[in-house]
Amino acid sequence: MPSPETDGRIDSDLHDGIFRIVMNRPAKKNALTIAMYLALTGAVEQAEKDPAVRVILITGAGDCFTSGNDLQDFLDHPPSHESSPVFRFMAAINRAEKPIIAAVSGLAVGIGTTMLLHCDLAYAGTNARFMLPFVNLGLCPEAGSSFLLPLLAGHRRASEILLLGEIFSAEKAKEVGLVNAVLDDSQVLNHALEQARKVAAKPQASVRLTKAMLKKTNARMVEATIYEEARLLIERVGSPEASEAFNAFFERRKPDFSKF
Ligand code: COA
Repeated sequence: MPSPETDGRIDSDLHDGIFRIVMNRPAKKNALTIAMYLALTGAVEQAEKDPAVRVILITGAGDCFTSGNDLQDFLDHPPSHESSPVFRFMAAINRAEKPIIAAVSGLAVGIGTTMLLHCDLAYAGTNARFMLPFVNLGLCPEAGSSFLLPLLAGHRRASEILLLGEIFSAEKAKEVGLVNAVLDDSQVLNHALEQARKVAAKPQASVRLTKAMLKKTNARMVEATIYEEARLLIERVGSPEASEAFNAFFERRKPDFSKF
């Protein structure tokens, strides 16, 4: 019997022009399965089409944003094509014309952090924690982050985040420009909703034009990087070092990369 706690689902609702998307799989820190990526993509596409939607807000259920791609899925059903669900989700948030706002509580790992690079506004709780562990997993950057993160944070800070793959604080996320503000954990969602209401109250043609203009200069490069990284990720995910990293995670041991 499927349970949303462990199998996960994507919830959404629409109030006052704000389409809220919730990654909901608390027992697994909201790790995203293939089915959840498909549902996320569907939700973003639905929000884009629905004229009643003025702003998209993404958040996680419980005390977590998301722990990133489900590692069991990486082992059992690795992405094999540029149109695999994980890449379709990246393309959907990258192409979205309506503003996207993120409210981050707790952990934002992997895509939990890289999706913020495609959000227009992002807010984090004091206890939010971020991590891009691609190198630790024998993988490579995703979602255009090898282009967007250095653009945002500069080469040195992007290298620190991507090469070391260490967990970092909400304050550091603000310092490097990943989030707009850090708030008390109990206030993150309310604040993000308040900002969403402000944007939703503005003339929508101007909002979308402004978003489009802000993204125009880098649009081609971002799209090209997403697909280049996707091709490399497909290769890396089948590598022996990635298998060692995923198996080590489930066996609750340190990976041994001494042979790689
Ligand atoms: N994929 C699959 N399962 C995951 C997961 C993921 N990305 N992240 C967490 N889980 C599962 C754990 O296996 C555990 O399941 P169990 O209770 O059946 O053993 C449960 O979620 C709780 O996670 P746990 O590791 O016990 O919580 P924690 O607070 O000690 O650590 C993390 C949280 C996110 C730091 C840790 O789970 C982690 O490193 N996860 C992997 C993150 C990752 O590499 N994501 C992919 C990025 S590309």
